[in-house]
Amino acid sequence: MKILILGANGFIGSNLSEAILEKTNHSIYAIDMAQDKIKDCLGNDRFHFIEGDITVEKKWILERIKECDVALPLVAIATPMTYVQNPLKVFELDFEANLEIIRLCAEHKKRIIFPSTSEVYGMCTDDEFDEEESHLVTGPIHKERWIYSTSKQLLDRVIYAYGKHNDLNYTLFRPFNWYGPKLDNILNPKPGGSRVLTQFIGNILRGEDITLVDGGEQKRCFMYIDDGIDALLKIIENKNDCAVRRIFNIGNPVENISIRTLAELLIDLIKTYPQYAAAASKTKLVDVDANTYYGSGYQDVKLRVPSIARAAKYLGWAPKVNMKDGLKSTLDFYLS
Ligand code: UGA
Repeated sequence: MKILILGANGFIGSNLSEAILEKTNHSIYAIDMAQDKIKDCLGNDRFHFIEGDITVEKKWILERIKECDVALPLVAIATPMTYVQNPLKVFELDFEANLEIIRLCAEHKKRIIFPSTSEVYGMCTDDEFDEEESHLVTGPIHKERWIYSTSKQLLDRVIYAYGKHNDLNYTLFRPFNWYGPKLDNILNPKPGGSRVLTQFIGNILRGEDITLVDGGEQKRCFMYIDDGIDALLKIIENKNDCAVRRIFNIGNPVENISIRTLAELLIDLIKTYPQYAAAASKTKLVDVDANTYYGSGYQDVKLRVPSIARAAKYLGWAPKVNMKDGLKSTLDFYLS
């Protein structure tokens, strides 16, 4: 199989590219604006990479879509601080640029595996979010945080419509707070410059306080990247068309912890690395209200638990890595 990966140097793209090369015989055609996370892939003769911008390299993308069996457009801004500070950039890249790719896949009858997001459920109050039953609940327009959620939601709806009315062969997957090696750059000192886990690791290593937005009582289900990649490999394999025109939540409902607990876990674990133990021991947890940290365009999700019954039923998939082992592997990567 020939697989097109747009955004191969991203968190999911880089981990997926490595796994495809290691565990399958497929070839990858890949593009990204950087290549620091895919050094191990670059020498492989099944990995065909160009460095470039998907909004510029349109001819290359068109040719690859024609040539490949399946496309994974993984380019997107995925940090909530950017949703509130630069919503138009999020719209232009996450929505507009990806819409072009979706249309090309529809036009050329190519299978597409598209990253939706746990964020589409927004502030849904269901105990577990179900792909086909749960309501997608966002806030008023001035709460700009929802531009990411609603951009992704509209793309989900466009893809669904192409599937229903144009026979587009698609799978939508919704990652729920995946984490692991190659997530974000922990050296980025900007508050909110990365997702919470890498943000907190960076805070601890730099000797900064950890900022708990609104007290850190909000919860997330965190899932280790290897479990997500396992699910994606099953979707790509698509045995007996099990993934065709389906939406899958891909998350770990068991590892449902508060942001405060995450901070405490990280401090305790980093204390076990002699080089960083002193910094971890000194880290303080400081409460900050969301308005001060993110600005008035922010609104938070209190509870976000995936139902993974459909992924279990159709893909035969379930997460395997517990939080402690996943965090340890992540810290080994970042601290070594
Ligand atoms: C994220 C992002 O929107 C996307 O990466 C993705 O689509 C989705 O979740 C996902 O992976 O499922 P969120 O979980 O809200 O959304 O983003 P984080 O930046 O990781 O924040 C998690 C929680 O930690 C939020 O409640 C936030 O307020 C809090 N936080 C963040 C802090 O308390 N302190 C910080 O310094 C940073």
